[in-house]
Amino acid sequence: QVPVICIDGPSASGKGSLAAAVAAQLGYAVLDSGALYRIAGYAACARGIPLHADHAPELAQVVQEMDVAFVGETILLGGEDISLKIRSDTGSRNASLISAIPAVRDALLQFQRDRARLPGLVADGRDMGTVVFPQAPLKVFLTASAEKRAERRYKQLISQGLSANMTTLREELHARDLRDSTRAVAPLQPAVDALSLDNSDIGIEAAARQVLSWWEE
Ligand code: CDP
Repeated sequence: QVPVICIDGPSASGKGSLAAAVAAQLGYAVLDSGALYRIAGYAACARGIPLHADHAPELAQVVQEMDVAFVGETILLGGEDISLKIRSDTGSRNASLISAIPAVRDALLQFQRDRARLPGLVADGRDMGTVVFPQAPLKVFLTASAEKRAERRYKQLISQGLSANMTTLREELHARDLRDSTRAVAPLQPAVDALSLDNSDIGIEAAARQVLSWWEE
C-alpha cells in the first residue's frame, strides 16, 4: 500500500504550497489535481468544445486523449508549455466549469490514482480524501479566511507576471467557492475522517509541521 496524504480545501487556501512543503520533507511526489482540471479546460477550449454537460462525451474524450507531461514546474500539453496560461482567471473559471461534469471527473480518476507510487504521494485538491483516495491514512482539510485567500492569490498571480485585481479576485473566489461547494458532483466538503487546519494566521512552515506531526502519529 502506497502512503497517500490528502490535502483538500477551497481555492487559494494554500494547498499547493503546503503539499509541496510536506512532500519535500518526506521525499514524496505531489499530485496537483486542480492542474489536471485546468489542463482539461484548456484542452477542451482549444478544440472549441463548450464546457457544458451537453458536450460531456466529447469533453471526456478530449480528457482521455490529453498528452500531458509534468516537467518540474512546467506543464506541457502536446508539447506546448501551458503552465502560465492555465493559471489565469479564465483558466480558473474553465477548470471550475469542466470539473462539474461527471464524465470528465471519471476520465481523470485512474490517471490520478496511478500517481500513487512509492515512496508516497501528497495529493492536493477538492475530492482527494472523499473520492480519489478514500483509504488514505491522513486527510487534511485546509481552510483560510476569504480575505487571506484573495491576498494569496493576488500575490501568486503578480509573482507570475500575470495581471490581478483584488476586487475581481474576491468576486471570482466567491463565485468559484459557491459553484464548487453546491455542485451536484463531488461538491467541496471535508471527508468524514479529515482533520481541519486553518492557516489564515500561520505560515506555511507551521502548517507543514502540523501535518507532519499528524503523519507521525
Ligand atoms: O488553486 P485553486 O484552488 O484556486 O484551484 P485549483 O486547485 O487549481 O482547481 C481549479 C478548479 O478545479 C477548482 O475550482 C475546482 O472546481 C476544480 N477541482 C476539482 O473539481 N477537483 C479537484 N480535485 C481539484 C480541482
